[in-house]
Amino acid sequence: MSNAATNAFTESVIAAMSPDMDPRARLVMGSLIRHIHDFAREVNLTTEEWLAGLDLLIRAGKMSDDKRNEMILLSDIIGLESLVDTLDHQAEDGATESAVLGPFYREGAPILPNGASIVQGGETGPMALVQGVVTGPDGRPLAGAVVDVWETSPNGLYEQQDPDQPDMNLRGRFQTDAQGRYAFRCVRPVSYPIPFDGPAGDLLQLMGRHPYRPAHIHFIVHAPGCRKLVTQIFDREDRYCADDAVFAVKDSLKVDFVPAPAGSDADFLVEYNIQLASDAADLRAVA
Ligand code: BEZ
Ligand code: FE
Repeated sequence: MSNAATNAFTESVIAAMSPDMDPRARLVMGSLIRHIHDFAREVNLTTEEWLAGLDLLIRAGKMSDDKRNEMILLSDIIGLESLVDTLDHQAEDGATESAVLGPFYREGAPILPNGASIVQGGETGPMALVQGVVTGPDGRPLAGAVVDVWETSPNGLYEQQDPDQPDMNLRGRFQTDAQGRYAFRCVRPVSYPIPFDGPAGDLLQLMGRHPYRPAHIHFIVHAPGCRKLVTQIFDREDRYCADDAVFAVKDSLKVDFVPAPAGSDADFLVEYNIQLASDAADLRAVA
């Protein structure tokens, strides 16, 4: 074996890092170099394959802007965002589990009164009333918690992907009342394909996979003294719950869209209570 293909070569590359480096960066970079070299040795990576990988990353970078993040998509389809999210958010007993943020969050969603609809225009579809109680780590209701939600239109597109939707359509921020309750009206979410007209789509095709995500609503929930929760709720009936293109579904995040009683202004009701973890639940911060 040539010198460059040995473990000793890998160790010499790692040893070239300065001893004065930040210790965490040293750990991360050393491990990354070791695993990437092991990977190249394991598959006997060819120059052509290495260049094709670099080209994929270059194209992903060029395609990314404030409306589209192809690098996140690439991470997602190999399960990396979901893995990192789970590692970084080991759920405290009783706390709601997290799920990936994805590339379509926008800050500054309209602040709306509890119970209001986040639908401003675009395609219509069956409506759902989603409500529940936000509690703190001790299980007591939290007043004034912020519940930030977003979803796609029934055409499967987020507003920033779709010129026919008003700005900030299907996004809203709500504040829990004195009993910790939040409520909002939205369209019943649909399953949709993640963008597959770029490198992430090429990679999905190479792997013989589809681009679909199960119907879901995104949440970010925060309150003083609690760890910010980034999560999603999933329509239990959706076939892609068992086959999510980005591997984000967790059993505890599946919900039922129950038909609403006659006379209700919504077609479906969803009850979902959320428990936030304490600020101290950031395990890496205390490690
Ligand atoms: C999303 O649910 O918005 C999403 C998550 C990961 C990749 C693409 C989209
Ligand atoms: Fe989504």
